[in-house]
Amino acid sequence: MSSKFLFISNKVKKFSKTFEVDGDKSISIRWLLLTSQAIGISRAKNLLRSEDVLSAIECLKKLGVKIKLSKKECIVFGRGINGFKFKKNLVLNAGNSGTVGRLMLPLLIKSPFKIKIIGDKSLSKRDFSRVTEPLNKIGVKFFPKGKKHLPISILGSNHLRPIDYHEKRGSAQCKTCVMLASLNTPGEMRIYAKRSRDHTELMFNNLNIPIEIKKKNNIDFIKTSSPDILKAYNLSVPGDISSAAFFIVLTLLSNNSKLVLKNINLNPSRLGILKILKMMGANIKIVKKDINKGEKSGNIIVKSTNKLKAINCPASLNSSAIDEFLIIFLIAARSEGISHFKNLSELNKKESPRLKLGSKILNMIGIKTKVTEHSIKIYGKPNLNLNQNYEIKNYLKDHRIMAMCTIAALTLGGKWKIYDPDSINTSFPSFTEILKKNFKVKLK
Ligand code: S3P
Repeated sequence: MSSKFLFISNKVKKFSKTFEVDGDKSISIRWLLLTSQAIGISRAKNLLRSEDVLSAIECLKKLGVKIKLSKKECIVFGRGINGFKFKKNLVLNAGNSGTVGRLMLPLLIKSPFKIKIIGDKSLSKRDFSRVTEPLNKIGVKFFPKGKKHLPISILGSNHLRPIDYHEKRGSAQCKTCVMLASLNTPGEMRIYAKRSRDHTELMFNNLNIPIEIKKKNNIDFIKTSSPDILKAYNLSVPGDISSAAFFIVLTLLSNNSKLVLKNINLNPSRLGILKILKMMGANIKIVKKDINKGEKSGNIIVKSTNKLKAINCPASLNSSAIDEFLIIFLIAARSEGISHFKNLSELNKKESPRLKLGSKILNMIGIKTKVTEHSIKIYGKPNLNLNQNYEIKNYLKDHRIMAMCTIAALTLGGKWKIYDPDSINTSFPSFTEILKKNFKVKLK
């Protein structure tokens, strides 16, 4: 823990603001990984410049990919499928990012040398067997054998085979891992996946990578195989709805305020947050709808709401709101009635055990919860108003815990000291700048 902290002792005053948030993290990382495998020069505008994305760039650079990152754009000089410069004793650092760690692996499955993957303290606690097991079946070896946590070394093979893969968690990382492995695997990969964010599928379509998708109920049956050639691919990255979510909730919990968030990614597989908040009574509208390379976007208009009601959240929305539950819990804390969120064991497998920690933070501010390994009941208090001192530390530097507590401080009152404020830089480096500029928050 560093000694730096964010100190907040005032609620935000009535506001009417318009701004953008940083580019989408999932799209930014996928674009970098896929264009590294393309032949030629790819350019992206508004690529997220967060620590997770920089980890992806550093890993790719170590593998011989030239990447230029400037304010205006990011340029990837692709080396073609399996065009990496593999060397002995390579160590790739995924930092805090599960997505970088788990999605780099399928690009290394032909490496003739062992490559070691490492990560920070939080990432080293997270399960990697969920991706090493399917890759193992494809013919890839991992060392030490059976180890579930980083550091892990991967050794590729020239005798790879396609698999039938059943993805049952609703994890886009697991699905994408096997999809990316198909670039280097002969034959046809067949994936039965519980529905989750589909940015990879959209990029495969745009890149002309053979892909067939059949949708049935909550399951997608995906067939992919390797293309003969992958051509360079330009993209303009829309804003991240997971970052926008914090300011949507800030507005909902403030008085008589209005916010317009411009150019936000509105991929239907990410819209759980908007659906859940609307079910709880939120006033949210979408305007200026657009679509670019299959990714929908638009402006989100949100107005403060003083009548929020509890939700019995349908588990079918879990995957499409998986990164937003902490901030949704804050809304539940200020809603009339008891909210119930179920089948959420995946939440304890994120950058921190979010179901447990989220519940602890709610208890700290006087909200009763009943929490199990996979569910939480939140007993809302519509008139919740805080006036004590609160310290947030030892939260494994989980960026979304930091942002959740910041929004709590700015809307519920009390004096808050939030340590390790730089943790937000993994996903949303403009967060504190936006707060300073638009809401006069001071960083100490
Ligand atoms: C992501 C998928 C989700 C999400 C993560 C980003 C992705 O993880 O929590 O922040 O970009 O594929 P899971 O796929 O493990 O649910």
